[in-house]
Amino acid sequence: MAGYFREGTIAEVRERANIVDVISNYVSLQKVGKNYKGLCPFHSEKTPSFTVNEERQIFHCFGCGTGGDVFRFLMKMDHLSFPDVVRGLAEKHGVNIPRIKLSDADQKIFLRREKLFDLNNLVSGYYHNVLINEDGGEKAREYLKNRGIGDHTIVLHRMGYARDGWDGLLNFLSKKGFLLPLAEEVGLIIRKKVKGFYDRFRGRIIFPIIDSHDKVIGFGGRSLGDTPPKYLNSPESFIYNKRNSLYGLNVAKDFIRSADNVIIVEGYFDLLSLNECGIKNVVALLGTAITQNHITALKRYTKNMIITFDADEAGKKAAIRSLNIFLNLDISPKIATLPSGLDPDSLIKEVGEEGFKKIITSSTPLMEFVIEESIRKNDLSSVEGKKNVIQEIVPILTKIDNKIERDLYAQEVSSRLGVREDTIFKQFSSDRKEGVDLQRQGVRLMGEDLAERILLQLILLKDKVIHRIQEEGIIGEFSNKHYREIGLLLLSVFNRDGKVDSGKVISLLEDEDSRSLISQLLLEEESIIDFQKTLENCICKVRMNKIKAERKIIALKIKEAQERKDEAYLRECIISRQNLLNKERDYKQAFSHLNG
Ligand code: GTP
Ligand code: MN
Repeated sequence: MAGYFREGTIAEVRERANIVDVISNYVSLQKVGKNYKGLCPFHSEKTPSFTVNEERQIFHCFGCGTGGDVFRFLMKMDHLSFPDVVRGLAEKHGVNIPRIKLSDADQKIFLRREKLFDLNNLVSGYYHNVLINEDGGEKAREYLKNRGIGDHTIVLHRMGYARDGWDGLLNFLSKKGFLLPLAEEVGLIIRKKVKGFYDRFRGRIIFPIIDSHDKVIGFGGRSLGDTPPKYLNSPESFIYNKRNSLYGLNVAKDFIRSADNVIIVEGYFDLLSLNECGIKNVVALLGTAITQNHITALKRYTKNMIITFDADEAGKKAAIRSLNIFLNLDISPKIATLPSGLDPDSLIKEVGEEGFKKIITSSTPLMEFVIEESIRKNDLSSVEGKKNVIQEIVPILTKIDNKIERDLYAQEVSSRLGVREDTIFKQFSSDRKEGVDLQRQGVRLMGEDLAERILLQLILLKDKVIHRIQEEGIIGEFSNKHYREIGLLLLSVFNRDGKVDSGKVISLLEDEDSRSLISQLLLEEESIIDFQKTLENCICKVRMNKIKAERKIIALKIKEAQERKDEAYLRECIISRQNLLNKERDYKQAFSHLNG
């Protein structure tokens, strides 16, 4: 992410912008001690837990866990990309951004992509021209007219037509022979068995698939007649991956931002018909189920997502399956259920723009929909049926991050089933313990990991301790995987730069949980008084925990050896145990000596 700019540039922009000034434009901040506090703009709260630290140029909300530097703040607040935020702040504060210099390998990839984009752009112009100007295009113009797609929409989406022949595009490209290998690479032309090529798209309406940077990454084509397949798309290529891409995002992105919601539909024509009626905050999938990458791409513009699915069983199943993916990314989507047999394209033609908007505004949370479906499918008059519902719903509920929302749904399920709430919550807390809490390490302060967490905090706060930590190799012994990864990252930053610049680390971290952890560690109120002593204590604690874990394993082995009556193995295990006990005694002594 930081690769777009030189590191020096980012640091300079961060420094000149000053996080306190920037955030003050959005949040009213009060100075409390050495921090500033205010009401968090990312979740609703009555007492301020949103904290900004000027010295370190970071923020952290102790309520919702959001944290980061000034760039993160603006990205989240204004739904902008990282480069856009950096450029915006640089301009405002008069920081000059030197042109990027890519490595040779990156340069090659960049140029290759650009070449393919240029080719696709040229080709989309060719198809577009055939559709609007040329002989052979009439049939397609007629078809679109019949489906209610007007000129404005055709131009907006740069739609085109591929004539019904084998070499229309091929002839067009042959004038620039060097383009043929590229066209083959992205699947626009296909190599014949003997010699030469033929066009992939024939007799089809063409939909260029254009990404949010206005690059044509691939094409879709709909057959005019009944010649199967009804739809044909570009194959996956160096620049096109349907699981990452959404049709129409180039047009929709500004509308999504201003409406602060997005409607996700399944087909090209669904999107085009809605556009035709002035509904433009729409994107379409490209023949796949919704993926994490789709949602991540949309999250840059809004958190409010509405899916539209067929009311048939397959449609419902797909919708239900997608809920988990949304929840994993902290999105609670809604679902607009359409009358059976109608897709948005056919529906809006029946009920009109107003009718359709009503359906959209009355869309229900997908979670509610999933609960309803589960209740519908199971027989609630039996214990078995109720148990099924609880077992289906509770694992999904545990993924909802917002506690209030989660509890409300749990109450809903309890009253619908006529089961006491604590029955549901019991299932709930056992699921949570196994699943979500384990992942949300940032808030997990219990026993074993505490020492590891404090060691991370020491690395962040005191460069001086790092040598000792490295000398002990203690990070590699961490039992908490997340802490271990972060620790190793911090050490590698230290080894490269000779210090740990927390601002830089935070801007390097893509993953939200890790950022949240670091901003929290940096801003926690209770400060460590005796660094040296805490350091030694924590190293000792981590080692003692490790020994404890090893002792548990050895105990099992001993039991096994006894059962198998394997004397040699038993002796070996007992010796290992004795070694562990000796080590443990040494550490205990060291520990009490330290604290004595
Ligand atoms: P129309 O009949 O033109 O209204 O198409 P539709 O969008 O209503 O079609 P449908 O609901 O059958 O399909 C939805 C989406 O799935 C399409 O927009 C395509 O992206 C994809 N799709 C449908 N049929 C095919 C096919 O035969 N091949 C491929 N590759 N994709 C298809
Ligand atoms: Mn349709």
